[in-house]
Amino acid sequence: MMTQDSLKEIKAEILEIVSKSLVPEDCAHAKNVLEWVLRLKPDADIALQLAALGHDIERAIPERRLNRNDYDDFDAFKRDHAENSARIIHELLHKYEIDEEIVTKVCHLIRHHEHGKENDTEAYVLNDADSLSFFDLNLPYYFERMGEAETFFRMQWGYRRLSERARTYLQNVTFEAEPLNDFLEQIKTSEHESSKCAVFQIFNSAS
Ligand SMILES: [Fe+2]
Repeated sequence: MMTQDSLKEIKAEILEIVSKSLVPEDCAHAKNVLEWVLRLKPDADIALQLAALGHDIERAIPERRLNRNDYDDFDAFKRDHAENSARIIHELLHKYEIDEEIVTKVCHLIRHHEHGKENDTEAYVLNDADSLSFFDLNLPYYFERMGEAETFFRMQWGYRRLSERARTYLQNVTFEAEPLNDFLEQIKTSEHESSKCAVFQIFNSAS
């Protein structure tokens, strides 16, 4: 059985680890993802809240962190990143008296935070919250570090994983760095065009 005190302790330990990340915005991102989770699902349970705070934890631990350059495929990298974070959170949670059911759920949500999980609304809430936070908070930092081509790719990847509902939050977003506004417009237009195309194909094959 978990008390409010141990819940506070777990959250503090996660944030303490994440605050040491070499990626300077990681701690703010963890808190921001939790805020987005609560905006998308105000009754988010303890497991979903802990998953929001700890989903990127592997990035904060240099000796366990995966290296993006070891992967040709960005999706494979993101899958392993999610799996690695789930493994670390599993170890961390077992230091506390916490129901196994909650541990299993936190790990499951983290494991699927990059791509969602079919028929699992909460996994998609975390997936949306993470991606919205990328646009809301991380993007200017990412742009400064990675440059235009990589940022465009990352924005497109992030936009594609957003649900229709989550995309509405990006309707009136603007960025200080002008190219980012342009990139977002291009991505929205091309996604809109390709979804029209997909509907057209379904319609055509049905007729
Ligand atoms: Fe994240």
